[in-house]
Amino acid sequence: MKMRMDYNNMLSSRVSDGITQQELDKLSASIKKANKAMVDKRAAGKMAWRDLPYNQEGAVKEINDYVNEMKDEIDAFVVLGIGGSALGPMAVQQALNHPWWNELPREKRNGFPKLYVLDNVDPERLVYFFQTVDPTRCLYNVISKSGSTSETMSQFMIIQQMLEEKVGKEAARRKIVCTTDAVSGNLITIAKAEGYKYFIIPSAVGGRFSELTPVGLLPAAFCGIDIKGLLVGAAAMDEACKEEDIYKNPAHMYALLHYIGMTKGKNISVMMPYADSLKFISDWYAQLWAESLGKQFDNDGKTVNVGQTPVKTLGVTDQHSQVQLYAEGPFDKIIVFLGVDEYRETITIPKTYADMPSLGFLGGVTHNKLIKTEQDATEYAITKSGRMNMTLTLPKVTASTLGQLLYFFEVATAYAGELLNIDAFDQPGVEEGKNATYAMFGRPGYEEKKAELDAAPAKDDKYII
Ligand code: PA5
Repeated sequence: MKMRMDYNNMLSSRVSDGITQQELDKLSASIKKANKAMVDKRAAGKMAWRDLPYNQEGAVKEINDYVNEMKDEIDAFVVLGIGGSALGPMAVQQALNHPWWNELPREKRNGFPKLYVLDNVDPERLVYFFQTVDPTRCLYNVISKSGSTSETMSQFMIIQQMLEEKVGKEAARRKIVCTTDAVSGNLITIAKAEGYKYFIIPSAVGGRFSELTPVGLLPAAFCGIDIKGLLVGAAAMDEACKEEDIYKNPAHMYALLHYIGMTKGKNISVMMPYADSLKFISDWYAQLWAESLGKQFDNDGKTVNVGQTPVKTLGVTDQHSQVQLYAEGPFDKIIVFLGVDEYRETITIPKTYADMPSLGFLGGVTHNKLIKTEQDATEYAITKSGRMNMTLTLPKVTASTLGQLLYFFEVATAYAGELLNIDAFDQPGVEEGKNATYAMFGRPGYEEKKAELDAAPAKDDKYII
């Protein structure tokens, strides 16, 4: 089963300000350069995430053994992580398991535990979480590549203390598992010192590209997901993404079309899955696309301020909230419909009001047909209004097709980075806020930043009403 990409509606033959063949042809030198960079960087180990479909065999075995050892001891598997250490686990769980997984009785979860992801540090979240589960019957997975992220580490410290108080240090040890870098950061030091089980994130794989490492594989395996299937799907997509010819390489073409779109003022990338199961793919994609491509400087140090703002939506729900804007608002978006051919379930509308024309046509129709038809109709309307759009389709949402999709977006993001001539793998813009937080807390080493903050002009009360 292969994912498909239909980009007809990105082209000038179908939408008023669409991309022309001339525009595509004009970029052949940039395409060649980007292709070469992708190959060279991979060979030089600078795209280590591209090897994950092939080198996680050992991790998969260790993960599956660990799941078998632990799963019956716990009610819930709890992820303490944020950003790239949380969005993937949420997206994969939502895609492949029952949408109300935690509410199902255990036998309907095939004996697997519940899953919670505590990514935010809103104080209410942790307190309410402790009121929802027996916190001593959970396995806590502290996920942090850097091993120093304040949000994750603060949650860890609260939970470690709670466990040690409630069950004692020895028993607490078995309830914490870490996923982090083998060498750098505090978390690996702590894990070793405390005797926690730990899994390694390959050092050259960055946070938002780490879903196919134990970051994503461990939580998925604890929810009974076929993690090998995810990797097999990713490997299949890797083959397609090695194609030199851009017309045969879906991820490169996706990136190129978005790149041209950006040069034509399409500053917004709308991701619109027509499947509840793919809802959190939009969240995961939003981080990947935004954090990787939103950059001030290019690789030559020139100020470019590039990037596209990702917008997370859900079909058909957002037809009733955002599509009005897409159809008639500014011409500043590329809309990506994300559909499935076959849903896992079928439900049919009864022929209750056959004599009422506005309802009768629904009688005997399945929701499967209704959602698909609404997707096609929205695509038609958006195209008619001249807005660039394209459609990605999974034949069915399975571990393998999901692996294809995740890997596809990762390659597309990296390739878009090459076309934009920016570093898609760093996030310097996030540092300023982090450093300001440290300074506000008086963390040693941030005295200069604190002085800078103190010297900033005070807000004028006149403008606070
Ligand atoms: O993509 C990234 O690098 C970030 O979004 C990180 O995933 C996020 O900041 C969490 O970092 P860490 O895993 O180091 O705790």
